[in-house]
Amino acid sequence: MLYADVASTSWPKSQEVKDIINMYLDTLGVTPERSLSQQSKKVTELIEECRHELIEQTGLNSHGTVIFNSGATYSLNECIKGTLKPGDNVITTHLEHNSVLRPIEHLKDIGVSSQLIDVTAGREHTLTHLHPKNTLAR
Ligand SMILES: Cc1ncc(COP(=O)(O)O)c(C=O)c1O
Repeated sequence: MLYADVASTSWPKSQEVKDIINMYLDTLGVTPERSLSQQSKKVTELIEECRHELIEQTGLNSHGTVIFNSGATYSLNECIKGTLKPGDNVITTHLEHNSVLRPIEHLKDIGVSSQLIDVTAGREHTLTHLHPKNTLAR
């Protein structure tokens, strides 16, 4: 899984990003695949172009594997809750953002365990806590 948290890690946005957002706000302003209007068709085309570019640039091999979401928290919840199942164990660190730690904590209710590694204790300490049941490392 490739997780690109663009919104919270890139600023200022490039001129190209500003230009396409302004073009969208000035001339389109509709959601994709929502109507038969020319604007909606254009928005759908732009999203498909973006999806295609991402597949090409990242080497992902399937159209259905690129998902756009409204933000990181939503995406992380989808990935974490959609991937882990009862009996799985998650190894992570206390350095993770709340949007990672909270869904992992929530999954304890269905039998997903987790361990927070103290990354300040050194490499050997970290490595001894890793084991093959770590679902997120698959
Ligand atoms: C590393 C990281 N992950 C996730 C988030 C949550 O992002 P969002 O506000 O898009 O849900 C943030 C927010 O700043 C973040 O810094």
